[in-house]
Amino acid sequence: MNPHLLPGQPHFHYQGSELHVEQVPLAALARRYGTPLFVYSRASMLSALAAYQRGFAGRKARICYAMKANSSLGILQVFARAGCGFDIVSGGELERVLAAGGKPGDIIFSGVGKTRAEMRRALEVGIGCFNVESEAELEVLSEVARSVGQTAAVSIRVNPDVDPKTHPYISTGLKGNKFGVAHDRVLHAYQRAAELPGLRVAGIDCHIGSQITDSSPYMDAMDRVLDLVESIERAGVRLHHIDFGGGLGIAYHKEQPPEADALWLQLLGRVDERGFGDRELMIEPGRSLVGNAGVCLTEVLYLKPGDQKNFCVVDAAMNDLPRPAMYQAYHAIIPVQQAAREAHTYDVVGPVCESGDWIARDRPLAAQPGEFLAVLSAGAYCMSMASNYNTRGRAAEVLVDGTEAHLIRERESPADVMRMEHLWP
Ligand code: LLP
Repeated sequence: MNPHLLPGQPHFHYQGSELHVEQVPLAALARRYGTPLFVYSRASMLSALAAYQRGFAGRKARICYAMKANSSLGILQVFARAGCGFDIVSGGELERVLAAGGKPGDIIFSGVGKTRAEMRRALEVGIGCFNVESEAELEVLSEVARSVGQTAAVSIRVNPDVDPKTHPYISTGLKGNKFGVAHDRVLHAYQRAAELPGLRVAGIDCHIGSQITDSSPYMDAMDRVLDLVESIERAGVRLHHIDFGGGLGIAYHKEQPPEADALWLQLLGRVDERGFGDRELMIEPGRSLVGNAGVCLTEVLYLKPGDQKNFCVVDAAMNDLPRPAMYQAYHAIIPVQQAAREAHTYDVVGPVCESGDWIARDRPLAAQPGEFLAVLSAGAYCMSMASNYNTRGRAAEVLVDGTEAHLIRERESPADVMRMEHLWP
């Protein structure tokens, strides 16, 4: 098969007619663990990480994996062992990093709605930095830190008002978004942070959106952040690090995002040109580290030809793969075992009782009931956004490493799904 049919997924390939991940045939995994099944390639994650590491070679830089993209413990372990830090957005994510062996000092805590309890716990374990998203949060964090006899390292997330040219639900750096401190309030916020007794200013932070496939919004945001660094430092507040967030897109279909190393060569050129090359750099990539390292295997249940549409009903659904329903997102779908048959055009849909439960539209497929399909680019924002809607247990997950396959999450049974519920007397 033409390798270009699997854009950005060098570790997923056909041997003969059988789709493999690294050295493992996917059909065998689907039979052994059942479907829907997420399968990830460790080599693919490490090669995505290596592109960032090349981009930052010789620099003071820290890569904090934005674990919201995929927070399964076995995935976090891959990045913790590779020396990454973590960008977290909740107390739950904090506990996951600790359970997976991540170092507390390498954790940064983002998010617009941190609770006092989450702040206390993060201070207690000694996280590296809080990315503060509002002036009100500065006051609360200082108070909480004082109450536990600590000072909290902070970086203020600035909203640079740059259009990332992506889906509106995943744009975060525009004036109308809830994230970060508005550009014209940033200086004031830093002056306040420097005065508050429970805080220590460490850096500056920004994140403009997700699935960004063009380098120009990044360059614009970098310029706007560096303008702010200049004015904040002129006011006497020193910034030790610049955190540039995440957001780099992946190829789901025909997108051609820049490679992480090429993008960073360009961005670092600008940082040097403007005289900030001595600062520690931090980034928070999520999707670009895991998105194309995972597939979701699903079994074809029924073919339903119709007057207007043909439907291919599979056993994965919007609770497993929420991105098409939420963002009209495209995921490529290919057969796990190729067959020499005529293809027909289908909408691929799941068993959930909603018309919004579709995984793909108008795709040529030759698969028959009982055969397996692979939904590609399913490593990011699929399992981490999965739900139990229709009392469907969440899928199992397998991490492949060369010839080995490790079950990193078991499939949820109905009893698991009902475990926290009580009948009333
Ligand atoms: N840092 C912050 C503060 C973020 O809000 C995000 C993502 C990231 C880092 C990581 O961005 P990435 O490198 O993954 O683009 N569920 C959506 C994506 C939501 C992204 C939210 N923030 C989707 O499936 O497309």
